[in-house]
Amino acid sequence: MLLNVKNLSHSFDYPLFNNISFELAPRSSMSVTGVSGSGKSTLLHICATLLKPNGGEVNFDDKSLYKLSSNELIDIRRYDVGIIFQSHFLFKGFSAFENIELSSVLTGLPLEDELLKRLGISHILAQKPGDISGGQQQRVSIARVLSKKPKIIFADEPTGNLDAATAAEVTQLLFDYIKANDAILFLVTHDLALAKCCDAAYKLENLELKTL
Ligand SMILES: Nc1ncnc2c1ncn2[C@@H]1O[C@H](COP(=O)(O)OP(=O)(O)O)[C@@H](O)[C@H]1O
Ligand SMILES: [Mg+2]
Repeated sequence: MLLNVKNLSHSFDYPLFNNISFELAPRSSMSVTGVSGSGKSTLLHICATLLKPNGGEVNFDDKSLYKLSSNELIDIRRYDVGIIFQSHFLFKGFSAFENIELSSVLTGLPLEDELLKRLGISHILAQKPGDISGGQQQRVSIARVLSKKPKIIFADEPTGNLDAATAAEVTQLLFDYIKANDAILFLVTHDLALAKCCDAAYKLENLELKTL
């Protein structure tokens, strides 16, 4: 799947970006940096099916997202899009395993032991989110997202709550995932070194998306 964004504009109380365009092919990654409030999360939400922009188009292959019916959009959100947030949104009453299993229930895909091992969470699967560390919670939420085998991963400051070593590990896992699955990574981050590891690195500033 190709992500093709054309002439996107959006404002809330003030304009956030105006007429921005970019394209991402399978197996490639991009990063968006910028000061707090510059509109990074808004851009991510728009590209991730969650928010209709004031102007412009988001295309997945030849499909213009916001021209689809709501059922078609829900299917894309369920099967093709994976979103990783800074706060993990795990269900507190469920074990780590049950949280991850949820995405398998939704997509019908089996859970892969290899992924759980890679993320270093095999031994904490029986525990509830409240009983594991912040880094472990984030890795469980990433396992939940990757288990659905999404074609495009949107990650909004996914390593913001992690120590440097865990952050590097988790990011490598995302890069490996897109290569192995012909997927795309759209990463919002404050970490400039990490931002530059992506195939394309952008900065949202003065309503424009500039090359970092
Ligand atoms: N749903 C919303 N309604 C109104 N204003 C919003 C909404 N979402 C974000 N904003 C505003 O848009 C601006 C950009 O927010 P955001 O995209 O979250 O920036 P960033 O992720 O770069 O910090 C902020 O001023 C924020 O308050
Ligand atoms: Mg944000």
